[in-house]
Amino acid sequence: MLENIDFPTKIQSIAFLTGAGISAESGVPTFRDAQTGLWAKYRPEELATPGAFQLQPGVVWQWYQWRRELIAKVSPNAGHQAIAQLEQRVPNVHVITQNVDGLHQDAGSTDVVELHGRITRNFCFDCGEDYLDDTSSLEHPPTCKACGGLVRPGVVWFGESLPEAALERAIKLCSEVDLVVVVGTSSIVQPAASLPFYSLRAGIPVVEINPTETPLTESATVSLRGNAAEVLPGLVKSILSEK
Ligand code: OAD
Repeated sequence: MLENIDFPTKIQSIAFLTGAGISAESGVPTFRDAQTGLWAKYRPEELATPGAFQLQPGVVWQWYQWRRELIAKVSPNAGHQAIAQLEQRVPNVHVITQNVDGLHQDAGSTDVVELHGRITRNFCFDCGEDYLDDTSSLEHPPTCKACGGLVRPGVVWFGESLPEAALERAIKLCSEVDLVVVVGTSSIVQPAASLPFYSLRAGIPVVEINPTETPLTESATVSLRGNAAEVLPGLVKSILSEK
């Protein structure tokens, strides 16, 4: 299936737009997978909101503590690694991710735009001050040293705006690079879902990798059905053989 892709010649810059699916083979459940165990009765959309935190800060905090513990144990997979390795051969490799797990950086990617924050960080819900103490053993959110407000995980929740600088950079990259590869995202959560359309409008080819069809599939230049850890190494190899 890769041999049919007509890559732009002399690729100098690539942006990978990634979602939860790229970390699935590392053992991080995607958002739209069924939740397991203790958290099976909640949907992420019910927990990952400012309203949920205001109403039940302990429950939301404990859900993030569970996710943090899970993420601390996992490692990058062949998909993350293939992207990072590309940096040795292509001058400008950018990763724009909706993931908060830091696995792209662990794999060695040096330019990662984090659209939804990072799960290991914390800041104050009220005043926004960063909270730097270790919170790994806490069952309830600590309070802010500056204002006494509750401390929350450093991720973007449903209904919140994305960090402005990250979004601006993502739009710029998606409008300028030679090739965009969209991996492991359901392409339904905005504004990330709109990013490939900036590329398509600019005439930049968009390759999608996902085991299932998404709202992007029809518009993508090429859509590859498969898992990130299996398809990405082959795609990267094909890109390199074009150079
Ligand atoms: P989703 O959970 O919505 O979608 C995961 C996507 O990955 C689906 O399209 C799956 O088909 C695909 N997938 C599953 N396994 C895969 C694999 N091994 N290789 C490649 N793809 C695979 O995750 P996101 O699209 O990242 O936002 O979700 C976007 C945002 O919605 C998240 O960042 C989060 C969420 O709610 C916030 O928390 C604000």
